[in-house]
Amino acid sequence: TEAWRPDDDRTRPASGPVRVRVPAKINLHLAVGPARADGYHDLTTVYHAVSLCDELTARPGDTLTLTMAGEGTGQLALDDSNLIIRAVRALAAHTGRPAQARLHLRKQIPLAAGLAGGSADAAAALIACDALWGTGLTRDQLGGVAAQLGSDVPFLVHGGTALGTGRGEVVSPVLARPTTWHWVLAVADGGLATPRVYAALDDLRAAGTAPAPLAAPDDLLGALRQRDPRVLAGTLGNDLEAAALSLRPALAATLAAGTAAGALAGLVSGSGPTCVFLAGDAAHAAALATRLEADGGCRYAVPVHGPMPGARIA
Ligand code: C5P
Repeated sequence: TEAWRPDDDRTRPASGPVRVRVPAKINLHLAVGPARADGYHDLTTVYHAVSLCDELTARPGDTLTLTMAGEGTGQLALDDSNLIIRAVRALAAHTGRPAQARLHLRKQIPLAAGLAGGSADAAAALIACDALWGTGLTRDQLGGVAAQLGSDVPFLVHGGTALGTGRGEVVSPVLARPTTWHWVLAVADGGLATPRVYAALDDLRAAGTAPAPLAAPDDLLGALRQRDPRVLAGTLGNDLEAAALSLRPALAATLAAGTAAGALAGLVSGSGPTCVFLAGDAAHAAALATRLEADGGCRYAVPVHGPMPGARIA
């Protein structure tokens, strides 16, 4: 059974607009292997979906159009290069439907921030058009289309807290207590291009100046089965952090400001430049965000919580 829509509805086209909410992701653990022949890196990662969300609305149309408002408007191309448009075309090809929809994106997740915003929007487009067209794919079938679009897209279809392997596209849920974790995202001015950050890690490793790679995430997976953020704090890690810091040295000051403000832990999110801080509870996260806005050297800081469900009809 599929949680996001009653079974008997999934193969009927929607009668009105379909609105989908999709979360941003952080990586609680991101272990990066050597570069592969196809240019990707093998990963072991623990994804975690957090409550900073984009919203995609799909309406019936004779063509495929995309408009947007909010974060990144004017900086994000809305043509065929946009991952939302590519997702709709991939779903249309997979299901034999014409790629027709009028899409509107309300964006809060910043661009090129290490939060997988573009991947989130692609996941939202798959869920939205599946419902709009009544193609009734299972979440696993949608995950298969998602994997063609980008390494993080399958996770954003599934959400929660999940182990990612392969280049990140092989996703399996992790056993965790039903606990809410509280975080602060410190969003930097300007983005970082993901391929540059992976290449910078390859360079640091070739020069022998990269930190030792992360071991298997056993301690993290153990901490997720407890409820103590102090235990979780000691188990977070990201191999891309040194690379992001080499490209953006100012992030070190943001990380230091979070620690000085009392964060239980701080690390770079994914390929950065967003920094993420673990808080003890919601009030602690709100206080940390206020402090980071004042002296964290970031564009803004926002308290979030996780895990959140993946892309789903609002
Ligand atoms: O899969 P996605 O298109 O999101 O990846 C963007 C870029 O990030 C890739 O082209 C590659 O340079 C880098 N990447 C990588 N190894 C991964 C995931 C991404 O090198 N596992």
